[in-house]
Amino acid sequence: MGYRLHHFNHIFPISRTSFSAFRFNLRVWCCSQSGTNQGKMEQIVVNGSESQVVVDDSSLLQKKISAIRLGGHAKLQVIADFDATLTKFRVNGCRGQSSHNVLQQEDPEYNDKRQKLYEYYHPLEFDPTIPLDEKAKLMEEWWGKTHALLIEGGVTYNGIQNSVAKATIAFRDGVTELFELLEEKGVPVLIFSAGLADIIEEVLNQKVHRSFKNVRVVSNRMVFDENGHLQSFKGKTIHVLNKNEHALDMAAPLHDHLDDVSGLSDEKSALKKRTNVLLLGDHIGDLGMSDGLDYETRISVGFLNDRVEDSLESYRKAFDILYLNDSSMHGVLKLATHLCSTESD
Ligand code: TMP
Ligand code: MG
Repeated sequence: MGYRLHHFNHIFPISRTSFSAFRFNLRVWCCSQSGTNQGKMEQIVVNGSESQVVVDDSSLLQKKISAIRLGGHAKLQVIADFDATLTKFRVNGCRGQSSHNVLQQEDPEYNDKRQKLYEYYHPLEFDPTIPLDEKAKLMEEWWGKTHALLIEGGVTYNGIQNSVAKATIAFRDGVTELFELLEEKGVPVLIFSAGLADIIEEVLNQKVHRSFKNVRVVSNRMVFDENGHLQSFKGKTIHVLNKNEHALDMAAPLHDHLDDVSGLSDEKSALKKRTNVLLLGDHIGDLGMSDGLDYETRISVGFLNDRVEDSLESYRKAFDILYLNDSSMHGVLKLATHLCSTESD
């Protein structure tokens, strides 16, 4: 098996010299597409092994990259999952918290109750042996029970701020730079999460220390009563396997001006005109996030953070580009830079 650095150069068009100048430690796995090696994976180690990326069909990916570049950044939008996609799976050696797990309730017994549910359902969430329809029912059950516990055990807006301040949660390296690049290019970013919108917005406030005019959050949003206590959730619950049903029709602005209905529908129709999509997710269900769009070209980027051997096969087929082992966002940043650039190379 020979080295196939050219595959990598197709994806991120940088020369060998500039490649080392980037000091970008990357291990690339490509699927052999012909002859006796069909179906096997090749491992290419480049400059160490800090990060790993798998591309199942590099010529298809190259075609998609060319099509998106041809359309220009005015036709591009980014749709990103939040937990374990924009955020790190591990933070300082510990499992990073999801937006649900961050939240500490007024009655701490309820944190334990939710933790028990997490311990039961989370392994099922990523179990590749459970059929998707069965798994969707389990996920609906989990979200239903968790949201009921959140209401019953009390949550306040102040509690959210304090919870986030103490949280073990961090964005992947390169996320801020990615948002900055996309803001500069006027490319909208939709954070589409089965987590909690109010927590995600607070994490953005506290961890990024700035707001982005191009970033919107679509997620489960809390309704507070006049005393600032959680009363209910808005709309239908979003869980990891029904993002397709909600897709773009759930879109609400970052700061939730629900009275701004015409602004919102203008924004939605503007998004629907951006028919090229860069989609980022850590779950097969995340691929449904673009279902509300009649997209022309979509590049899907997956993050397979855990139990890599169990899911490598299905993930590498499902995503155009697959990052393994809690990789940084730097590869996506390079890809987005290339997609938005007008220079020919
Ligand atoms: P995401 O759509 O942003 O990835 O958010 C969904 C994640 O939230 C999913 O991977 C499981 C996680 N989760 C918890 O950690 N605790 C919970 O109580 C629930 C319902 C979900
Ligand atoms: Mg996720």
